[in-house]
Amino acid sequence: MITDESVAFAVDAAVAAFAAASTAADLKLARSAHTGETSLLARLNATLRSVPNDQKAALGKLVGQARGRVNQALAAREGEVLVAEEAAKLGSEAVDVTAVATRWSAGARHPLSLLMEHMSDIFVGMGWEVAEGPELENEWFNFDSLNFDEDHPARAMQDTFFLDPVESHLVLRTHTSPVQIRSLLTRDLPVYVVAPGRVYRTDELDATHTPVFHQLEGIAIDKGLTMAHLRGTLEQLARSLFGDGAQIRLRPNFFPFTEPSAEMDVWQPNAKGGARWVEWGGCGMVNGNVLRAAGIDPDEYQGFAFGMGIERTLQFRNEMNDMRDMVEGDIRFSQQFGMAV
Ligand code: FA5
Ligand code: MG
Repeated sequence: MITDESVAFAVDAAVAAFAAASTAADLKLARSAHTGETSLLARLNATLRSVPNDQKAALGKLVGQARGRVNQALAAREGEVLVAEEAAKLGSEAVDVTAVATRWSAGARHPLSLLMEHMSDIFVGMGWEVAEGPELENEWFNFDSLNFDEDHPARAMQDTFFLDPVESHLVLRTHTSPVQIRSLLTRDLPVYVVAPGRVYRTDELDATHTPVFHQLEGIAIDKGLTMAHLRGTLEQLARSLFGDGAQIRLRPNFFPFTEPSAEMDVWQPNAKGGARWVEWGGCGMVNGNVLRAAGIDPDEYQGFAFGMGIERTLQFRNEMNDMRDMVEGDIRFSQQFGMAV
């Protein structure tokens, strides 16, 4: 029966239940108990239909106001619960910035990667481009296009990792020189390109050799380039890397893809066992047969190429006697170099 008392009772019960609910889930239960179809208020509302006509307006107003108050109390409590729940969540997710970090220690970039980038930057500063080639290389790019004979001893001399089956003619590249041809085939002349990257030979690991190492290749093809340009470029590189007093020396040598060819040495005043010249890389004027393999007329265009070891460069630059430190992957080794070599 709709009376002041029964309506007040329903409202008080609803408001008390909302106040007691401290989570969104509890509040949802209280809401359906006190405003849902089976709630006391809903049932009182339903009895309006059967009250005498002359009381309908007054009782309707009584019930309507009661429902209004209940809905208001519900909305207010919903707001409070939401704020409280968010605060609790933020609290539980807070990071204690004073806590000792024990989970992961910071990594470090390998000095060989840093050095390859640094050397490339020196060339970019002189207007050269940086290129890349695949480590799994076609035998043609690694040897044939570079003027190695079919059974040239150099193919064995370089102690190559060939891939099975041999008919696939795939090798782990033994030097970065195949990028010379790749660069010439994909660019218009003139070409000034350096290509840093990883190479593979079946060498034993010792203080100055590793079977997986890195080289930086360079090739410049233009009109009128001479051995003097090659020497000037290498001297500029050596001074940028090792300081203004750096000295290099070119020694006659043979490479099938350059003519004339030279081996370049760097003067090592602090070398283990006394000051001496140490081999850094090979270089020379690009052989006409290589230019022809790339569809270039050697009477019109000439140029030079060079390739040096990055591990050796790091050894010279940072006075490191043993190359093995570079391949062990001990993070403490890399961390000494910070973000720059
Ligand atoms: C070459 O690889 C030629 N492609 C270089 C070249 C490029 C000549 C362009 C002419 C024109 P060589 O085999 O000498 O040449 O290797 C070049 C350098 O790579 C060496 O001087 C040395 O610094 C480095 N190197 C060679 N073998 C190893 C090794 N096992 N571990 C570390 N560094 C090595
Ligand atoms: Mg050599």
